[in-house]
Amino acid sequence: MSDLTQEKSRSAAPPARAEKRVHIKSFGCQMNVYDATRMADVLAPEGYAETDNAAEADLVILNTCHIREKAAEKVYSELGRLRVIKDERAEQGLSTMLTVAGCVAQAEGAEIMRRAPVVDVVVGPQSYHRLPTLIDQARTKRRAIDTDFPEEDKFDHLPGPSRQVIARRGASAFLTVQEGCDKFCTFCVVPYTRGAEVSRPVERILAEARELAAAGVREVTLIGQNVNAYHGRGPDGTDWTLAHLARAVAEVPGIARIRYSTSHPRDMDDDLIALHRDLAAFMPYLHLPVQSGADRILAAMNRKHTADDYRRIIDRVRQARPDIALSSDFIVGFPGETEADFNETMRLVADIGFASAFSFKYSARPGTPAADMADKVPEAEASARLSALQALLTEQQKAFNAASVGRTVDVLFEKAGRHPGQIAGKSPYLQAVQVNGPAALVGTIAPVRLTGIATFSLFGDLINTPEPAANLGMETHA
Ligand code: 5AD
Ligand code: SF4
Repeated sequence: MSDLTQEKSRSAAPPARAEKRVHIKSFGCQMNVYDATRMADVLAPEGYAETDNAAEADLVILNTCHIREKAAEKVYSELGRLRVIKDERAEQGLSTMLTVAGCVAQAEGAEIMRRAPVVDVVVGPQSYHRLPTLIDQARTKRRAIDTDFPEEDKFDHLPGPSRQVIARRGASAFLTVQEGCDKFCTFCVVPYTRGAEVSRPVERILAEARELAAAGVREVTLIGQNVNAYHGRGPDGTDWTLAHLARAVAEVPGIARIRYSTSHPRDMDDDLIALHRDLAAFMPYLHLPVQSGADRILAAMNRKHTADDYRRIIDRVRQARPDIALSSDFIVGFPGETEADFNETMRLVADIGFASAFSFKYSARPGTPAADMADKVPEAEASARLSALQALLTEQQKAFNAASVGRTVDVLFEKAGRHPGQIAGKSPYLQAVQVNGPAALVGTIAPVRLTGIATFSLFGDLINTPEPAANLGMETHA
């Protein structure tokens, strides 16, 4: 149960105590990357500064992912490694508080407590605002767990991002606009670990976008498990769609680029598609998971669309924005998937042509309907299908990158490059681009002529050095 009394008394406590260190390690999706920044926001007023080194941390948080089996196993092996660090620190008289957060915590909190006595705190994604309380509880009562789905919206309890944390975000940041999912694809744990769909109100999102922009962020990715189902309350009292929201975010001074992820084919409405043509800040990149190209399997997955529905959506998106880079997620070896079904997936990939993609072997998640389905696909067969699919997708990605060579695109520079004198950034199509250029360009957008390809990235030459002020809001469609 949530203990709101303790919560309130904490907010009256004096700020910043003596400095302590927190190390947050995130697995899985971009929502976890965003949540990690919000956990840092909650802990900063408690005197915690972030560190990349677990061995010097007073508090270590594993921000876990439950979407596929291996991710949960990784958590247990991480915990083994951290136990050694905790013991070594104890020998030096230093205490280390170990917290498991994220979706494994939500789904298997009690089991983690049982299987891993080294863990002090378990906290689900809906309760990050309670971290300080839970840490205090663990200190006095040894261990604490909170995996409730509280009635109230968790966003109401999270503080705004602190300056210190925003400063570390660089030129590009995630911004959660929606969380949870009501779609219940039969393979997926998300509706159980992240709960029902909740959209944040427009004003909150715009306030966060303004803070990010003020701290130098030029590109925001609006994220949600089902981001194009967004329906948050607007300042005019009506529910806004994602397209409506994106137009408002584009008005925030300093925000030059907008992306959104992850979408569901059923929610690709006309307005959102038209925005790819009409809004210059909307990047020509769409991640739209299809999972399978076989209608039989799509039905068993409860996707509620066919392969041809997906092809039609892609046709409409390409009409609006012919150069758009497409990305998708695929699952092979779903229960009952035959060789013929798999060939339908290969055909869909060949028909559409993806610039990038994620593909996975089906992994049965306890508690989901597909876990109990008959006709499991033998492991060796699933592996062979995954290799064949990945070979095709890699070939398409390389072809997409190769076709970019010779073009001039605007690159948002985000960090130092691999070699001295290089800087690295992203093209509008989310390609990694390396150029020789001054570190002073990090945080700005500049035109680059693409000259060559490496395995999964591109090289290019700066066309000229931009006036940073002249960049604002300018994004040319190459
Ligand atoms: N097995 C394999 N892949 C899965 N995904 C989600 N659940 C599973 C599962 N049980 C994949 C889907 C989804 C992506 C985030 O992870 O492709 O789009
Ligand atoms: Fe999972 Fe399907 Fe919801 Fe995506 S739409 S989060 S795959 S249930």
